Amino acid sequence: MPELADPSLMRTQAFVAGEWRDADETIPIVDPGKNEPFTEVASCTAAEAEEAIDAAEKVLPEWQEKTAEDRCAILAELHQLIRDNEEDLAKILTLEHGKPLDQARGEIRYANSFVKWFAEEGRRAYGDLIPSADAAKRLLVFRQPVGITVGITPWNFPSAMITRKLAPALAVGCTFALKPAQKTPLSALALAALCERAGVPAGVVSVIPSSSASAISKPWLEDFRVRKLSFTGSTEIGKKLYEGAGETIKKISLELGGNAPFLVFDDADIDAAVDGIMKAKFRNAGQSCVAANRFIVSKAIHDELVEKLKKRIEDEVVVGYGFDEGVTLGPLIDEVAVSKVERLVGQATDAGAEVVVGGKRHDAGLNYFQPTLMTGVDPKMDLTCEEIFGPVIPVMSFEDESEAIRMANDTPFGLASYFYSQDLARVWRVSEALEYGMVGVNTGLVSNAAAPFGGIKASGQGREGSRYGLEDWTELKYVAMGGLG
Ligand code: SIN
Repeated sequence: MPELADPSLMRTQAFVAGEWRDADETIPIVDPGKNEPFTEVASCTAAEAEEAIDAAEKVLPEWQEKTAEDRCAILAELHQLIRDNEEDLAKILTLEHGKPLDQARGEIRYANSFVKWFAEEGRRAYGDLIPSADAAKRLLVFRQPVGITVGITPWNFPSAMITRKLAPALAVGCTFALKPAQKTPLSALALAALCERAGVPAGVVSVIPSSSASAISKPWLEDFRVRKLSFTGSTEIGKKLYEGAGETIKKISLELGGNAPFLVFDDADIDAAVDGIMKAKFRNAGQSCVAANRFIVSKAIHDELVEKLKKRIEDEVVVGYGFDEGVTLGPLIDEVAVSKVERLVGQATDAGAEVVVGGKRHDAGLNYFQPTLMTGVDPKMDLTCEEIFGPVIPVMSFEDESEAIRMANDTPFGLASYFYSQDLARVWRVSEALEYGMVGVNTGLVSNAAAPFGGIKASGQGREGSRYGLEDWTELKYVAMGGLG
């Protein structure tokens, strides 16, 4: 275990209604890099999930009475505490998730950028004054907090996926109870410890780890007091939660799966495109909903791009344990994930695709896969229809722009998309034609606290980050004020 400057950040108890609690059962937490359990975390049940909501109900009036200025000051304190403890938080993250320490530091900074953004933006939940046709009336619109809210977050970004829900929720005056991913609850619990230190009142935030997702989500879905659910994870689970939230007509935000296309046109700067591909694919070992999944390259530049990409992968990608110096590609989360990638690559190869680099499990350990580049891939293969969630680059080619757009849009998903082109007219045309919530033009990275992150179609609904992400935690209230003539 890495040494922490502040070992009290390594919490293994649940944080329920402002108290740290043990539970009858525990969840073993595994270091994916070594495939070994290293600690155990309290595994909560429906009872704690309900208690968190009872506590939230009690504290809600006090929390909402605070001014935005007061709540944002607490968030600013949280931001400072995350900064002060960045190295410890990064170590905890690498230990439970596996990503290289440098990328874990990057994630903590990314997570903290949401806290900073919403500590500032929380003061700007503006309303409107609508011009009235009746001189004796004034029509006002303002924003009020949704109220009691809950979140369910994934293992791929154990810290950032929490702060981009928690920070706007707290900024506008909601309470927030969280069920973190079963595999990565330690980052969530460390954040809870820092919320407590920052002065978040008891009961405003609860963190309820559990080995049973439904034991926690079911009481939350059924409880009418819970007015919003925000979920990041698979489309399969998202559909079930969407259905469940209908029972109590909750507001729901869903950030679900993607199948991001990455287009490279013949007028692109090829070196820049290769750079973008490296970022869009190997960040987090490809385990991201916005990871580029299908690489759709103009026939005219296909061979040159593949050659350059091959060289960059061979020269730069270093596979290994997240705490080892110089490692750029860590393990996948578990062996099931490795088996999936192996299946997708194997099926594609059997159907005629060619492996240019990698293609196999990596000998660094059970959970590692080689960085892989493949050509001759077909749009109907599972490799290009399923979310790979691994370090594989499948390359296809196209003849003209309309074919490229058709291929890019030929999926039920609509989260992120990317393309490289230097032709201004094409940049506008393609940006408008891509059926996605996010488009990266000449960049392989779209994530930013100031921008609205989210998808359309089977990739979900709602936005996180930005002023739109703040609005998602509020309800509009319209007030007609008469008798003013
Ligand atoms: C995700 O994979 O769900 C989020 C990635 C990001 O915020 O960049």
